[in-house]
Amino acid sequence: MEAAINVSGSRDIRIFTDSRALSHAAAGLFRALADTAVAERGRFAAALSGGSAPQGLYTILANEPHAGRIDWDRVHLFWADERCVPADHGDSNYRLVQELLLSRVPIPDENVHRVRGEDGAEQAAAAYERDLKAYFGDEDWPAFDLVILGAGEDGHTASLFPGSFQAREDNRLAAPVYPGAHMRDRVTLTLPVLNHARNVLFLVSGQSKQRMVRSIVQEGNPGSLPAGLVRPSTGVCTWFLDEDAAASLSREGHV
Ligand code: 6PG
Repeated sequence: MEAAINVSGSRDIRIFTDSRALSHAAAGLFRALADTAVAERGRFAAALSGGSAPQGLYTILANEPHAGRIDWDRVHLFWADERCVPADHGDSNYRLVQELLLSRVPIPDENVHRVRGEDGAEQAAAAYERDLKAYFGDEDWPAFDLVILGAGEDGHTASLFPGSFQAREDNRLAAPVYPGAHMRDRVTLTLPVLNHARNVLFLVSGQSKQRMVRSIVQEGNPGSLPAGLVRPSTGVCTWFLDEDAAASLSREGHV
């Protein structure tokens, strides 16, 4: 079951009964956007995230009816962010996608553009930036066909954390992130890259996200939280929420 709520101008907010329904809808959107991009431009470029919210999406894409109907030769996968760990580490966003999706579909190795977190944040960000420029061309900002994002309770997205300089970075395509004690160094796509995407899809589920969701999608993001700063200039920004995450939104105008 799905409901739509228009509370924030250019953001499209869709609310699903649970995270399973949300994941199926996300898989349907991924496939539809892939079909369109391949038909119009001959290839589909998507940036993926780690975290818990997109895991259902990756699992569903790896199975029928989607797996056999996506033109994987023309799908190119990147990452919205990565932790500075080896590719087979439990904290690696690449490993998450590898296990749930890449190992199960016929995507060519050369179409998989992972961040080499094991090389350290600065070096990995520089190499990732070169990879992005080689793929998209280096005259303009990359235009991903789809960026899949999660959002933390604190309003971070990708590895753009509230108050960090990376959240204000406007020159680089990819930036190193040093979140400090008890957290791993990371590499993140920057806000301008996210805001040049053709489509951004946030996947957010769970009660713990209620306050953040309300602040961003209904109260105009007074705290300038990074997830709320993702507003593609010409692209479409969609938030898929489950009922738990959406519970504190007022539903006037509920369709
Ligand atoms: C990561 C993500 C991060 C994530 C949010 C939300 O690798 O962890 O890049 O930005 O999307 O922390 O995570 P959940 O989906 O688990 O709530």
